[in-house]
Amino acid sequence: MQYDALYAHSLADPAGFWANVAEQFHWQKKWSEDHHHYNFDVTKGPINVEWFKGGTTNICYNALDRHVEAGQGSQTCLLFEGNEPGYSNSLTYSQVLDEVCRLANWLKAQGVNPGDCVAIYMPMVMQLPIAMLACARIGAVHSVVFGGFSADALAGECKRIIQMVDSVLVYANHLEGPQGAAADTPFTLGRDEWWQLAVPDYPALCDVEWVPAEHPLFLLYTSGSTGAHARARACDVNWCTADCGWFMGHIYLTYGPLLNRAASVVFEGVPTHPTPARSWEVIDKFQVKQFYTAPTALRSLMRSGDEWVKSSSRKSLKVLGTVGEPINPEAWQWYHDVVGEGRCPIVDTWWQTETGGHMIMPLPNVWPVKPGSATLPFFGVDPVIVDEKGVELQGECEGLLMLRRPWPSVLRSIYGDHKRYEENYFGPYPGLYFTGDGARRDKDGYYWITGRVDDVINVSGHRIGTAEVESALDAHPACAEAAVAGYEHPVKGQGIYAFVILKEGVAPSDEMKKEMWTNVRTTIGAFAAPDAIQWAPGLPKTRSGKIMRRVLRKIAGGQADELGDISTLADPNVVRLLLEGRKK
Ligand code: WTA
Repeated sequence: MQYDALYAHSLADPAGFWANVAEQFHWQKKWSEDHHHYNFDVTKGPINVEWFKGGTTNICYNALDRHVEAGQGSQTCLLFEGNEPGYSNSLTYSQVLDEVCRLANWLKAQGVNPGDCVAIYMPMVMQLPIAMLACARIGAVHSVVFGGFSADALAGECKRIIQMVDSVLVYANHLEGPQGAAADTPFTLGRDEWWQLAVPDYPALCDVEWVPAEHPLFLLYTSGSTGAHARARACDVNWCTADCGWFMGHIYLTYGPLLNRAASVVFEGVPTHPTPARSWEVIDKFQVKQFYTAPTALRSLMRSGDEWVKSSSRKSLKVLGTVGEPINPEAWQWYHDVVGEGRCPIVDTWWQTETGGHMIMPLPNVWPVKPGSATLPFFGVDPVIVDEKGVELQGECEGLLMLRRPWPSVLRSIYGDHKRYEENYFGPYPGLYFTGDGARRDKDGYYWITGRVDDVINVSGHRIGTAEVESALDAHPACAEAAVAGYEHPVKGQGIYAFVILKEGVAPSDEMKKEMWTNVRTTIGAFAAPDAIQWAPGLPKTRSGKIMRRVLRKIAGGQADELGDISTLADPNVVRLLLEGRKK
């Protein structure tokens, strides 16, 4: 198979393999011969990764100017669909370039220099990818804050960014909608400016800042304790349903499609408004070819009934992608049979914010797929499965999923804390990047992701750190201690189960549960609110006082017979009490 040869080449000569890929783009200055260096082993010195050393380029130039200069400026670049049906709009590559240049000039006028960080908090309107591209054009580093984070979470995030670096808050309200909507937007005279009033005065020409290959493009918040593929081709209409505040929206809505001169859909709404047919109607309206969404969305649409799907044509669809969590075979089959009518390959893509792009995924129609498996590694990706002690397992096996060597889009650091980056990702098993996921490899070498093995809960494809939820619960004056665990949930993949120990003398009440639940919603966001809160007499802790999360997960899931060895617990009796409390 051609894949085998190409894959082997990508591992044998990564520098040469990726140089071939990079040749397809414009480089203002070519990289040097010896352009790739790295260290993935903490015991040998600082972790570092370097690709295309000596080269300079600009991703905005490659995503926009390159196509316009080649005479393709009149091609559709962004397609907007508002929350309310009937409100839509589109921009060509030339138009997007003009808008990007105007905003880039405005940013410069605000004193933004190359390397400065710009926070962006906007709903899913076309100005969002435009703002990202404008930052990239002038070498500024964008930090898009997910719109689903609560106002509180945002305030904390932005203030921090503003205090720590020279940054500008680009705040735009519902620019695509009725102007009246802007009335709700908090506006401080002297500090804020309206985009639609200020930006159009700036010229639609702005020089590109050529930056070194390793110049940072963006910062992105994520939770952690520690060819022929789904790629869009020129003129294809690509729809990745993610918000730009998540990594998917960076790469598979903005940079990826535009670098490939495809048109990308920006959808402001939700798939169930006004009816569960909305996604399929938008697909027909824009003639979407590649549709990319999360299993949780599929499971909820599947429950609404097939009639909502069948009322649409969906003939334009060619590839159906999924990401964010393991897809259960039932949802996979429904996506394949009902949505794709058996015509479209299902591309189950495993990756993480940190990997910067797809890692394990089928190339459509290249090799057979198995529902529920992300199949085989992408070029340059070297997965390793190890046991708890870090011993590499061979052949058919199950264990922890690690990656042995860098690929160009791997994350380079944790902002302001390189040490934590080294400890989190490279500390647990020296020489390997730790993904935080478990995986099984079958006899055909296919990978099956089994889910997170660390303190991260994956709710509807959103990563949530147990510590974040726990500290939001702890903030309630009646809470002495809280611990949360993920458990299997039919729609969301995982739900959040919270155990709360109340302070001495506090009488439990349902109102108190509601207050704690609200605390989590307002400090983190609606998606992180616990599905259940149980009053707990104690927590399963080791003698050294560490919560045994493995045991907590089993209690949350009601898997009393799978508790394993609990003899090292300080008080094994707690487990029985929690299980009894859970039944009530
Ligand atoms: C999980 C979003 C199974 C996994 C791309 C990973 C998946 C985490 C899949 C990353 C998949 C993502 N099958 N599990 N196809 N894709 N995951 O950073 O646990 O928000 O570590 O990236 O989602 O989440 P993140």
